[in-house]
Amino acid sequence: MPQLTPTVLKTERLLLRWLDEGDTDAHFAVFSDPEVTRYWSGSPWTEREQAVKGIADTLANYADGSGLRFGIVLAASGELIGNATLHHFFEQNRRCEMGYALGSLHWGQGYASEALRALIGYGFRELDLNRIEADVDPQNAGSMRVLEKLGFRKEGYMPERWIVHGEMADTVNYGLLRRYWDAQSLES
Ligand SMILES: CC(C)(COP(=O)(O)OP(=O)(O)OC[C@H]1O[C@@H](n2cnc3c(N)ncnc32)[C@H](O)[C@@H]1OP(=O)(O)O)[C@@H](O)C(=O)NCCC(=O)NCCS
Repeated sequence: MPQLTPTVLKTERLLLRWLDEGDTDAHFAVFSDPEVTRYWSGSPWTEREQAVKGIADTLANYADGSGLRFGIVLAASGELIGNATLHHFFEQNRRCEMGYALGSLHWGQGYASEALRALIGYGFRELDLNRIEADVDPQNAGSMRVLEKLGFRKEGYMPERWIVHGEMADTVNYGLLRRYWDAQSLES
C-alpha cells in the first residue's frame, strides 16, 4: 500500500482535496441521495452518523494507505459535491480500483470526467500505478460513458455479482492501463 500524503489537485473548475470531519454534512448529502445509490448494493444513508463513520474510515484509510478518497469541490464556491477514490491498492502489481460519486444536482456538467482525469493522472504519475480497474452496473450508462471517455476499456462481464436493492445485478469490468493513458494524453 502506498504512503499517502495530503494533496490538492486543481482542474479548470474543481479542487480535489482530502476529506476531514468538517465535510460530514456535505458527505452525508451525497450518500443520502437515492439517485447516487441507485446502482449500489448499499441503501442511501439515512443517519448523519453514517457520514461520521464514513469520514472516520476515510481518515483511517489515508493513515494506513489502504484507500485514497478525494473530495470533489467546486473551485468557485468551495462546495463539496462528491468524491473520487482509489482503493484496493495491490502494490506489487501496481494496480488499484476506482470509485466515484457526485450529488445528482451536479450531474451532466462534465464534473466527473474532469475530476477523474486529474485523479487518474495523479495515480499514474505520483503513485506509479500501471493499471486502474472499475466495475459498473451495465444499466449505469452515464458511469460507463465517463469511463470510456477517459480511455477505460471493457474487459469482462460478471453476471449476478451484486444484489442491488433486492435485485441481482451484473458487473461490467473496465480497465485502464498507463500505456493507454500515456498514448491519449488526456491529462490537463
Ligand atoms: C456516474 C456519475 C459520476 C457521472 O457524473 P457526471 O458529472 O454527470 O459525468 P460527466 O458529465 O463527466 O459525463 C457523463 C457522460 O455520460 C453521459 N450520460 C449520462 N447519462 C447517460 C445515459 N443515461 N445514457 C447514456 N449516456 C449518459 C453524458 O451525456 C456524458 O457524456 P458526454 O460528455 O459524451 O455527453 C454520476 O452520475 C454519479 O455520481 N452517479 C451515481 C454514483 C455512481 O453511479 N458512481 C459510479 C459507480 S460505478
